Amino acid sequence: MKTLSYEFSPPKISCNIFINPELFLSDLLIGYLKKFSSKICIITDLNIKNLYGDKLLHHLRHHKLETFLQTIIPGEESKSRHSKAKLEDFLTSNHFEKDSCLIALGGGVVSDLTGFLASTYLRSIPYISIPTTLLSAVDAAIGGKTAVNTVHGKNLIGAFHHPLSVFIDPDLILSSPLQELKNGLAEVFKYSLIFDLDFFNKLNSIKTLSDLNNELIVSIVEKSLQIKTEIIKKDPFDQNLRKILNFGHSLGHALETASNHRLSHGQAVVLGILSESFLSKELGFLTYNEFLQIYKAFENLAMIPTIPNDVQKNDLVNALLKDKKNRHGKIGVVILKSIGKTIGYPYTELFSLEQLETCIDYLLENFQECPFELSID
Ligand code: GLY
Repeated sequence: MKTLSYEFSPPKISCNIFINPELFLSDLLIGYLKKFSSKICIITDLNIKNLYGDKLLHHLRHHKLETFLQTIIPGEESKSRHSKAKLEDFLTSNHFEKDSCLIALGGGVVSDLTGFLASTYLRSIPYISIPTTLLSAVDAAIGGKTAVNTVHGKNLIGAFHHPLSVFIDPDLILSSPLQELKNGLAEVFKYSLIFDLDFFNKLNSIKTLSDLNNELIVSIVEKSLQIKTEIIKKDPFDQNLRKILNFGHSLGHALETASNHRLSHGQAVVLGILSESFLSKELGFLTYNEFLQIYKAFENLAMIPTIPNDVQKNDLVNALLKDKKNRHGKIGVVILKSIGKTIGYPYTELFSLEQLETCIDYLLENFQECPFELSID
C-alpha cells in the first residue's frame, strides 16, 4: 500500500491518501468510516452507481453503517447550484448532522460537487473521496478545491474544503473508458511539465495506453500526488506557488466553456497545454525542440483532440475574459521556462487579449475540425 498525506495549519487540516488495489471494498475503508462517522451519504452519478455505487452501499450497510446513496446525472451540467440544492434538501430531510460524512464516489464532477456540498452543509461536514477516474485521482479529489459552475464560467462558486482521506483503487481507474484514462494523463503530463523533467521522460516511455497496468497506474498516481501535495503544503490557499497547477488551464477552461463541454476537461487541458507551451516558446522560454517533445508526447498516445468547427474565436475570447485568474482585465497564464520548470514568482503572467491572439490562432488553425494542414512551428 502506498500512503501519502498532507497537513497544514492554521486552520489545522490533514488529509491521508491511500493508493492500493482492492481498497474500494476494503476493511480499511470500513474501519475508517466507523471511527469518524455516524451516518453516511454516498454521492455518485448514475453510471457509477450501477458499476460501483450499489456495491459500496451494500458493503457499508452489511457492516452496519447507516448509509444512503444519492445520484446525479453524469456530466458537467450536474456541477451546478441546482444539483447542490437538491442534495442539500435530501441531507436536511434525512437529518444528516455534524458528524455525518459524505463519500464522493466518481470523477471530477462528483468530487467537486460533493466537496462543495460538504463545505457548506451545517457550515461544513467531513467527506472522503473514492475517485473512479485517473483525472479525479491525480487532481480533483486532492487539495480541497471544490466548486460548481455557473452560466458565466467554470468553478466560479466554491470553497476550499479538504477531504478527510482519499482512497485510490487502481482497479477502478483501469476499468474506466479509454478517454477517461487520456483525460487523467493530461493532468499527469501537466505535473511533469511544471515540476519534473525525469517524470516527463518516464511518461514518454509509455508507448501505448495498453501499457497501463495496475503497477504503472499506482506509480504515476503516486508521483503526481507527491508533486501536488508538496505544492499544496507550501501554498494551500492558491496564493502563489499553487498557481502553477493551472498550467494549460487558462486556454483549457476557455475551450471547455466555448465548446459547451463537448471537449472534456482532459481534452481541453491537452490543447491548453499545447497552446500555453506554444506561447512559452513564442516568448523565448521553451526551445522549439522542447515544444516539439511536448507535442509528440501527446501525439504518440493519440491524446490530441479536435476542436468542434462551430467554436468561434469570439467564443474563446469571451470565455477567456471570464477566467477567475484574470486581473485588471488581463488574462493570467502560467509560462514554462523549460520542461519541468515554470517561471517563478508571481507564477502567472498577465496578458492582454492582443498578446494572446497568436496563441488562440495557433489553436484554431491547427486543431479545429477542418481541412487545414497541420503546422506546429
Ligand atoms: N486543480 C488545481 C489545484 O488543485 O490547485
